[in-house]
Amino acid sequence: MKFKRSVLLIVPLLFLAATCKHTASSEFVLGAIPFPEDNPMSFEKIELGRQLFFDKRLSSDNSISCASCHLPEKAFTDGKALSIGVNGGITMRNAPSILNAAYLKTIMFDGELKTLEMQVIVPIQEHVEMNENMKELIKELRMIPEYQQAARTIFNRDFDPWVLTRSIAAFERSLISQNSAFDRFWKGDQRALTVEQKRGWKIFSKELYCTKCHPAPAFTTYAVANNGLYLDYGTDNGRFRITNDEKDKGKFKIPSLRNITLTGPYMHDGKILTIKDVIKHYQMGGKGHVNQSEFIHSFQLTKRKEADLEAFFTSLTDTSYLSSFR
Ligand code: HEC
Ligand code: HEC
Repeated sequence: MKFKRSVLLIVPLLFLAATCKHTASSEFVLGAIPFPEDNPMSFEKIELGRQLFFDKRLSSDNSISCASCHLPEKAFTDGKALSIGVNGGITMRNAPSILNAAYLKTIMFDGELKTLEMQVIVPIQEHVEMNENMKELIKELRMIPEYQQAARTIFNRDFDPWVLTRSIAAFERSLISQNSAFDRFWKGDQRALTVEQKRGWKIFSKELYCTKCHPAPAFTTYAVANNGLYLDYGTDNGRFRITNDEKDKGKFKIPSLRNITLTGPYMHDGKILTIKDVIKHYQMGGKGHVNQSEFIHSFQLTKRKEADLEAFFTSLTDTSYLSSFR
């Protein structure tokens, strides 16, 4: 797929949203796009970030860009259980969607990193991802006239890590997907959902306990939780890696379920292949890890209810964000 330098269609809307709270609250179900004081959004900055996001020169052998693992057509995931980086390196975790990343309270499955700006340097330096030396990369990118010129124009400085991280983060904040059938239903359009999807929404939100951790409209509380995936999490104990606190073993950031039909395979390690199997996992009541959330317990669903629940998940798909990449 080739990405033209076309003007982003969604940007005018976004720009309004970022600058005018009144417009935003009615435009986006998740509210105005939050951004740090030191990194306001602008058309030019988002465009620079977009070019960097798709630029393979950001990896040591020029073979991998951010978009290699975050593909637009897959809601910015890659359809793999684990991702493949430079020299066939394999990531420890499943690549999450970065649509609506602007709203994240913490970044990454550990629930620790605070800003998108800080996240940018992680994959660039990670040896199984882009395997770059930051100093050398900046030297290389500064030699590219378009990048150096854009840095001077937008940031009034030479191309440096500040420019790199601010512009990519601004681009990520422009990746908004909040126009699913469910969003239209949430805003009051009763006809936006089919009868099956409406029944599924009722099962998801009323009959089961899913909204304790995946509440509408974000479909995440942004907290970390242990959803009972394993009895023994092996080498990846999630937030425990950061805190070393036994109570954090097996706790991972709760993912949003927006665009869930596009983002499989599922969970931090991509071990669950289908939504059907995810439902089965919860139906069994989790594996019973000591830290498993008290909300999770076994339940039964008739075939019809299971189909309704799956129909509901299809109502969370919104690919309108793709129009900005044509
Ligand atoms: C080799 C594959 C790969 C590449 C290249 C890559 N990522 Fe990722 N990305 C991942 C994986 C895997 C995770 C999950 C890591 C974790 O949570 O520990 C992730 C997580 C993220 C997150 C966190 C999302 C969330 O919900 O917390 C963001 C944001 C992100 N990547 C942006 C980027 C940007 C920007 C680039 C380029 C500078 C990039 N990624 C390059 C694989 C990749
Ligand atoms: C206690 C909080 C909690 C509850 C309750 C909960 N989940 Fe989750 N859910 C999580 C966490 C945490 C993950 C990610 C776990 C991981 O990555 O290992 C997750 C992952 C998922 C995923 C995969 C998302 C992805 O992108 O990989 C789906 C689908 C899902 N849950 C659906 C449900 C459904 C359906 C219910 C109700 C039956 C439910 N969840 C109840 C915490 C919860």
